[in-house]
Amino acid sequence: MFPAGLRTLVKSHAALQPLYARYRVAKAQRAAQRLTRFLIDARFCPPEQAQAIARDWQSVSEHTQLSQAGILNLETMARYAIDSGIKGAFVECGTWRGGALSFWARAFLRNGGKPQINPLFGFDSFEGMPGVTAEDGTWASEMLHGRPMDALPPEELTGSLKPHAMNAAEEKTCRAIVAASGFPPAHTQIVKGWFQDSLPQWKEKIGPIAVLRLDGDWYESTRTCLENLFDLVVPGGVVIIDDYGYFVGCQKAVNEFLAARGLQPELVTVDVCVRYFIKRAA
Ligand SMILES: C[S@@+](CC[C@H](N)C(=O)[O-])C[C@H]1O[C@@H](n2cnc3c(N)ncnc32)[C@H](O)[C@@H]1O
Repeated sequence: MFPAGLRTLVKSHAALQPLYARYRVAKAQRAAQRLTRFLIDARFCPPEQAQAIARDWQSVSEHTQLSQAGILNLETMARYAIDSGIKGAFVECGTWRGGALSFWARAFLRNGGKPQINPLFGFDSFEGMPGVTAEDGTWASEMLHGRPMDALPPEELTGSLKPHAMNAAEEKTCRAIVAASGFPPAHTQIVKGWFQDSLPQWKEKIGPIAVLRLDGDWYESTRTCLENLFDLVVPGGVVIIDDYGYFVGCQKAVNEFLAARGLQPELVTVDVCVRYFIKRAA
């Protein structure tokens, strides 16, 4: 185990990179072993399946910010979509490096899903986060600017679609991580652009959605996704909101949207951040 200070030192010296890479592999292996043990002890699935889930998680763990609970939620939802025969896409808005999308694809294929029935879509700026608005609260401001919201000048609170370094990821990295899942490229769409621009153009092309995963963190990002894509989610389909418990702006966007539609779905807690609900027939 590297203490944090030593880790920073090792990471900053090129000659020590191979050592750090070996450490990361060993750490991921230990985490995968712990996850396997947990899945078996918790009777989540039989031992061979537990090992397969942990292997898939190990393959993506450096490329996703999801907790293990968030990852297991994807496993559960992939099985749910397959077992219930829900036709429609898996759509993630906010892919970052593509780890969650790739895990979904792996879980889906491993459980016998058919990509032509449940294709894959990922949307991201691949430039980093857009600006915040007053709705996003001071924690978002701290994350984006390293300063509380009341220390920001008004022009930093307009939600402008100019990229910030936070969560910047390369499109080609995401494509490679998702392709490594083995999900057929013919049924995969990774779309670069701000949701505000890409979703109005793409919503006609996505078709029905089985599982919609919102991971855009901010109020405007979440609101834009719901306004463009919620109506495409089929009855019995799932809406997963990654940041409901973490960013007040995301929570506000979801609450406002549901209230405006007169909907009161049961929000199920996955971890400190993630909630999901099943969309009922209107
Ligand atoms: C927390 S990261 C996503 C993490 C990812 N799902 C994972 O597996 O760890 C949030 C992502 O949302 C994207 N994003 C946020 N708002 C956006 C917007 N309005 N348009 C496009 N991308 C946006 C950012 O570029 C960033 O990659």
